[in-house]
Amino acid sequence: MKIEVPKDRSLRLINSGNVVMVTSAYKDAANIITVTWQVPLSHKPPLVGISLANQHLSTELIKKSEEFVINVPDFSILDKVVHCGRVSGRDADKFTQAGLTPLRADKLMKAHVILECIGYLECYVRDVRSFGDHTLFVGEVIYAKAEEELFKDVWNIEKIKLIYHLGGVFFTGSESIITR
Ligand SMILES: Cc1cc2nc3c(=O)[nH]c(=O)nc-3n(C[C@H](O)[C@H](O)[C@H](O)COP(=O)(O)O)c2cc1C
Repeated sequence: MKIEVPKDRSLRLINSGNVVMVTSAYKDAANIITVTWQVPLSHKPPLVGISLANQHLSTELIKKSEEFVINVPDFSILDKVVHCGRVSGRDADKFTQAGLTPLRADKLMKAHVILECIGYLECYVRDVRSFGDHTLFVGEVIYAKAEEELFKDVWNIEKIKLIYHLGGVFFTGSESIITR
């Protein structure tokens, strides 16, 4: 037997991509937003979508700067991830408040990368679409980096735990199954 899931909760059934922290900057403002709604879109070129609520500061900064970084946190910094998902950059400098270190990106001129994250993808905005109360940014990955001892073609989940979000509840994968 299955129970009806209210439409406003329905996306939680598929809401299991790993949680990321998207950084953006424009003029004097630099910001971090926690994002679950991220989706790979294309291999060639490598495209990724992030869906951000219209009212967020990050939405404004990315529209203006036309670039963003997707930083990959692991479970050890969950408290910082949650903080950046609860506080708006309109009210606080989240790098300082969360104790995260901004570093110059390798290719992008405005957005920073987060030192404490285990990898990142630097993206130029290639398309912007409005859907309901969210804005979908399509980014082309122009450069990406990951911790050498943690990523060899895939994340080594024996050594790290990615963060997954079900909505109020977080979980982490505990088992890897190799099919190749
Ligand atoms: C685990 C988690 C995941 C989130 N995922 C998203 C998301 O995918 N899209 C979004 O617009 N907001 C998401 N949020 C909410 C924003 O991170 C939050 O509203 C943030 O404070 C907005 O920051 P800003 O105004 O500084 O940009 C999430 C929050 C948490 C805690």
